[in-house]
Amino acid sequence: MNYAGKNYRVAGEHRYDGILYLPSCPEYVVKKVRDEKLDFRRDDVIVATYPKSGTTWMQEIIWLIMNKVDTERAKSEHVLVRVPYLESTKVESPIEKLPTMKRPLVVKTHLRADLIMRQVSKNADSGPKVVVVMRNPKDVLVSYYYFYKACKSYDFKGSFDDFFRLYESDDLVYGDPLDYCQQWMTYKDNPNVLIIHYEDLKADLKGCIKRLSVFCQRDLSNDQIENLARHVSFDSMKKNPQTNFESFIAMRPHISPFIRKGIVGDWKNHLADKQNEMIDKRCESLHRLCGLSFRFL
Ligand code: A3P
Repeated sequence: MNYAGKNYRVAGEHRYDGILYLPSCPEYVVKKVRDEKLDFRRDDVIVATYPKSGTTWMQEIIWLIMNKVDTERAKSEHVLVRVPYLESTKVESPIEKLPTMKRPLVVKTHLRADLIMRQVSKNADSGPKVVVVMRNPKDVLVSYYYFYKACKSYDFKGSFDDFFRLYESDDLVYGDPLDYCQQWMTYKDNPNVLIIHYEDLKADLKGCIKRLSVFCQRDLSNDQIENLARHVSFDSMKKNPQTNFESFIAMRPHISPFIRKGIVGDWKNHLADKQNEMIDKRCESLHRLCGLSFRFL
């Protein structure tokens, strides 16, 4: 992809089965998830998202639900240690050590539904469970643009229009956000899958925490729900070094913080009319095709 006369590529990116991956997610890892039965168990929870859809927010929520709302421990250990990144081999991929990992286990992934669902049963009594977060794709693209600029591995120096061209030419890491959501819609009726929208978390956080705790089969008292909601509020996660990625060597928070604005509708400040219409058209056709719908488009 060209912008400002430069050929843009994420260093070491590679394409497998049509999807662009970071070098930290090598082909053998994707194949392993697709072809092998990994050691996931009944109580394990996978947080599955397209990047920038509210992954970290959901990681923190699910970890607390599964760990008796232990906010003290959450404040003392990084979210990526408590909820590791399934396909990333940057440190040590959890895929290699699933059998020995401490339970309850929560992992995050950006892998496609068809891959993850190879590990998930149709039977409600066997695990793992999957919580999928979807977000208005226009806000996802805006958030991803700032992430591409701030994260050293991406080192993107173009404008939002340049970034949108990457999206149009299917050159984004983890592929197209709408294709990602469309694939998950195939599995929406599986009892082990819960799809929740970023916009719903914003509108009714405590109601969503209740729904999530029922899905994860954990009873939370009203006090615990209050405490959890306080801990995962935007301001609290932005201040918390275990969730804000401010000290991560790979990030440049002075260019854009990881926990950035946390609002619905920032796309209105970025998308040109043509870009907006293009996404609206795709969303309309996906709505007809599989019932996928986003709020505040
Ligand atoms: P913005 O860039 O729009 O602010 P991910 O974790 O999937 O990378 O998603 C990051 C996005 O989620 C960022 O969006 C970030 O600000 C937002 N986010 C993280 N924690 C949040 C919270 N507690 N409340 C609302 N939004 C949050």
